[in-house]
Amino acid sequence: MTIRPSSSVPATGSYRSMGDAVTLLTRAFQLERGLLRMLGGWMPGVPYWDAKLAMGDHLWAHAQYGSRLLKRLHELKENTAERQECQAVDELLRGLGAAPDGTDFLCGFYGTAMSRLSGIYTAWAAQIDPVMDPFSGAILVEATNELRGQAEWYAAYQPAYSPGALVRNKAWSDRLAGLFDAIDLPAGQWRSDRPAPAIEEAFTCVPTPQRDASFQTARVNEINRRTDDSFEGKRLAIFYNHTQEMQFAESLGAILYETPEMPWAFHYDMARHCVDEIRHTRMGCTRFEQLGQKLHDFPMLLQNYSLRAKLDPMERFCMMTLVIEASSFEKKRAGVKMFQEKGDEISARYESYDIRDEMQHVNFGHTWVPIMLRVAQDARSVTELVQYCQDILADALKNERKGVAGY
Ligand SMILES: [Fe+2]
Ligand SMILES: [Fe+2]
Repeated sequence: MTIRPSSSVPATGSYRSMGDAVTLLTRAFQLERGLLRMLGGWMPGVPYWDAKLAMGDHLWAHAQYGSRLLKRLHELKENTAERQECQAVDELLRGLGAAPDGTDFLCGFYGTAMSRLSGIYTAWAAQIDPVMDPFSGAILVEATNELRGQAEWYAAYQPAYSPGALVRNKAWSDRLAGLFDAIDLPAGQWRSDRPAPAIEEAFTCVPTPQRDASFQTARVNEINRRTDDSFEGKRLAIFYNHTQEMQFAESLGAILYETPEMPWAFHYDMARHCVDEIRHTRMGCTRFEQLGQKLHDFPMLLQNYSLRAKLDPMERFCMMTLVIEASSFEKKRAGVKMFQEKGDEISARYESYDIRDEMQHVNFGHTWVPIMLRVAQDARSVTELVQYCQDILADALKNERKGVAGY
């Protein structure tokens, strides 16, 4: 954190009151939380593989700023800040999410919102008393840099796996710019001197994840049929499966979006879980390349996300953490042992980190599934919910073994 030295403080400054500064921080917190949930919800609907990887990193950055803003608000004794959601900001975020498709979502989110909000945060930082509150100003200045960086990423972005140049929809971008012009964020209201914007319906996450047009897709995992029982074959299958963890990140992104009733601590943990799965996907892609393989030569799987998209967010999260991840350790430890015995240090290292990450993810399940049951006023016990999810998964796996494209 950079605290501005006192010599740079003007003798006469007209800064906002502490109460007004708290309002700005509260708005920024609502925005950061909304942005991260929006990125998660749209991640499955964006077709570009490399953009999804970047979205995971950006989502985690918004989680960091959300966390810092809320901590600062608590220091200022604004203990209910998390629940002070302002309707106009919510409507602005809904407008941002109402993109016609994943390509336009990127255009609106990065091309318009990131650049507009970085300017807004800069202006707010300059209005906070630098003598008494350098902390709040520093969070906003650093968030400004992050948001500007995200806008710059989009400005230079061209999909690596899709043919043709990225379409940047100026009409959509202009429409969102109109929303930013029409809102008075500190007041938390639409400006009275502008026509009231048409407020969109909340978008819904896609039932099937999108992929670049150049990829083949499949609904059955046939990697074991394509690889033999040799060390090389087993290793290839392990890292191919890691590349397909994108579906796990996408399911978590959808959970982030579909749980507005859950507390910030849950959204923060989901953001971490999501970016961890993005990291595991990247690990798979990296090792694939190191092993001389091309991602394009193997199909992208869609069925795991699609199955989970049919469940409500609580059941989806329970299935992911307390069923799938909780039952993965024996196989993963056997993988580490095999890599160590063969002297494959890189694979052993990757898998060792992966196991530690998965332990944390199972702990997320143990922490949050009981709370989700209470929030949903669902009378089932955790054990009953786990059994329900195990049964659904067992059915789906049975169908996959039969080669049925049923999920
Ligand atoms: Fe993972
Ligand atoms: Fe995981």
